[in-house]
Amino acid sequence: MNITNASKLPLFPLTAKVNGQGHVCVGGCDVVDLAKEFGTPLYLFDEFTLRHKCREFKAEFTTCYPDTMVIYAAKAFLHRALATILKEEGLGLDVVSGGELSIAHCVDFPAAQVYFHGNNKTPEELQLALDWEIGRFVVDNFYELGLLDGLAKAKRRSQDILLRLTPGVDPHTHEYTTTGTLDSKFGFPLATGQAEEAVKQAMSASNLDLVGFHFHLGSPILETTPYEVAMELILSFAARMRQKFGLQLSEFSIGGGFAVQYTVDYKVPDVADYAQAITAKLNKIISQMGLSFPRLIIEPGRAIVGQAGIALYKVGAIKEIPGIRKYVCVDGGMSDNIRPALYTARYEAMVANKASSPEHDVVTIAGKLCESGDILVRDANLASVSPGDIIAIPVCGAYCLPMASNYNALLKPAIAMVNNGTAHLIRRRETYQDLTYLDAG
Ligand code: LLP
Repeated sequence: MNITNASKLPLFPLTAKVNGQGHVCVGGCDVVDLAKEFGTPLYLFDEFTLRHKCREFKAEFTTCYPDTMVIYAAKAFLHRALATILKEEGLGLDVVSGGELSIAHCVDFPAAQVYFHGNNKTPEELQLALDWEIGRFVVDNFYELGLLDGLAKAKRRSQDILLRLTPGVDPHTHEYTTTGTLDSKFGFPLATGQAEEAVKQAMSASNLDLVGFHFHLGSPILETTPYEVAMELILSFAARMRQKFGLQLSEFSIGGGFAVQYTVDYKVPDVADYAQAITAKLNKIISQMGLSFPRLIIEPGRAIVGQAGIALYKVGAIKEIPGIRKYVCVDGGMSDNIRPALYTARYEAMVANKASSPEHDVVTIAGKLCESGDILVRDANLASVSPGDIIAIPVCGAYCLPMASNYNALLKPAIAMVNNGTAHLIRRRETYQDLTYLDAG
């Protein structure tokens, strides 16, 4: 294997290897065989990597700050099989819709470990979550505060809540995934006095119990400083609220946003770096302010599932424009991974059936959708590629499938879970019948 292939392999799931035939293997399975068996596009998730990431987050944070609870942000990818793994690994779950809630419910996810986020939870969603007796609602706005109090009252219950606060900190990520700045649709801003008003209202609400604060700055966050700055702002506010209203902060959620390495030259902090910087700052501020130590909640999404997932496509047409560019067209595209088109996200790619061959070609991997912006990887170094080859794109576990669409009436891909040399389909590929299945008339 030449150096370029070798440098990309660490981006793949932790079990990735190249076998004697020069094929990429994940979870002990030859991915080229799986592409044949299940068809393409195909998404694979490696169970070992998923479990490893859950354990790594728990271990790194609890070593530095024992009372940490890791709750997985379901929006990054949710499936019953994953929810079962999370449950077994003892993680909680952050959901943002009745849909995510219902998937968690399907596997009897422990309701007390479910946190309900979102800036416009409907009365029906709030009701569903109350009926299921989930642990916490992370209240985003005044409308929700009143609504939830009323619904909890009707149930003669007192519901634990956190307030989502907007600290006004820029995490230096893509503007579409920045959430903690003042001009955001999420949360109660500190700067305008609305956060204080929310505390006042929450503490006087008859059927709500305010147990903590939450913030989420954006995603992915490549530095630890934005977390530290936001913690300082929110905890100073908490100290003021203790003085003014006697608020006891028993939970403190710093949201998600932990980055993953997408490309060889894209450097991100390790889980241990985040854990050390965040908990050191937390310990320091809490001691300085004389607050009691709250439970720390973290909400990784991307960092749990990103590396565990890979996407496989089959090469079809190849168009070379002399002196300009070589387009290698695959059988998926922005319908299964919109991230390059939406955020100019960068990925690496490898020819999965030529993983030991030198990578002399520079090509642009294009999807099959009728959009010029449907490019998966621009200027990828690849082994010499021909129709029928299988392209593997690593780090596709987060935010690809959940944002997939049926644009151009493409069928959503199949998904398989691999582990210890076996692969099982966890979602079948859509069929043409599925495309009209829900039509009425
Ligand atoms: N907590 C809250 C309240 C969130 O809004 C999010 C992500 C997370 C946790 C998890 O963030 P993570 O650890 O996965 O970075 N579609 C975009 C990402 C949007 C993230 C939205 N909120 C992407 O493909 O990059």
